[in-house]
Amino acid sequence: MRVIRVATEADMGKEGAAIIADGMRMKPHFVLGLATGSTPVPVYKELIRLHKEEGLDFSTTLTFNLDGSIGLPPTHEQSYRCFMNTELFDSVNINKANTHVPDGLAEDIEGHCLTYEMMIEDVGGIDCQVLGIGRNGHIAFNEPGSSLASRTRALDLTQDTIDANSRFFDSIDEVPKRAITMGIGTILEAGSLLLFATGASKATAVKAALEGPVSVSCPASALQLHPDVTCIITEDAASGLTLNFRS
Ligand code: PGA
Repeated sequence: MRVIRVATEADMGKEGAAIIADGMRMKPHFVLGLATGSTPVPVYKELIRLHKEEGLDFSTTLTFNLDGSIGLPPTHEQSYRCFMNTELFDSVNINKANTHVPDGLAEDIEGHCLTYEMMIEDVGGIDCQVLGIGRNGHIAFNEPGSSLASRTRALDLTQDTIDANSRFFDSIDEVPKRAITMGIGTILEAGSLLLFATGASKATAVKAALEGPVSVSCPASALQLHPDVTCIITEDAASGLTLNFRS
């Protein structure tokens, strides 16, 4: 595991986007796994800058988002489809038909989850997966207790995650309680993983993920099982780390 400690969120964005851009330049039809939430926004900002100022080409890029809330239509401003359009897709030359976000309004959720897995497989798997981490150690919406072999599925969100998401909604009643998420097993099949973390509220989860035992109590600890992981972490989120990592 490679750990890059950075001073600012902007530095994190630059480091992360540079890794993604290298992959995109090397492989046409690059398959990029994407995440929502506040953390990856500086990465998307830098990808947009690379597109506008340095001609980074998204025209053949394929994307798969990690998760989506059940019950929110794609037009809802807090839906993950809407988030991705606003934060990245609308500002680069990506073909939206090549972008995939789990559909929280699918009639047959279980069938949709299976199809999502098959679509990833059909394009040869995800080359690089962007990840954030929840303050409870979740990756995507794999909450503590999720099997490390889990696949894409629907699940109930924990109260901690609902509380964390409530900042985006007017009242707690509007916050989705269920979501579709790629499984930990699905995530571990990506060619490379890029974990981003910012803020002191993530320090405990980051320490458990990187230095604790591999355990379902901290789903992000499963990253220790993957051979190609880069963690880009601001100093406040990395403050609990004691081990020396390659950087
Ligand atoms: P955040 O969410 O980036 O908004 O902090 C990360 C996560 O919960 O995975």
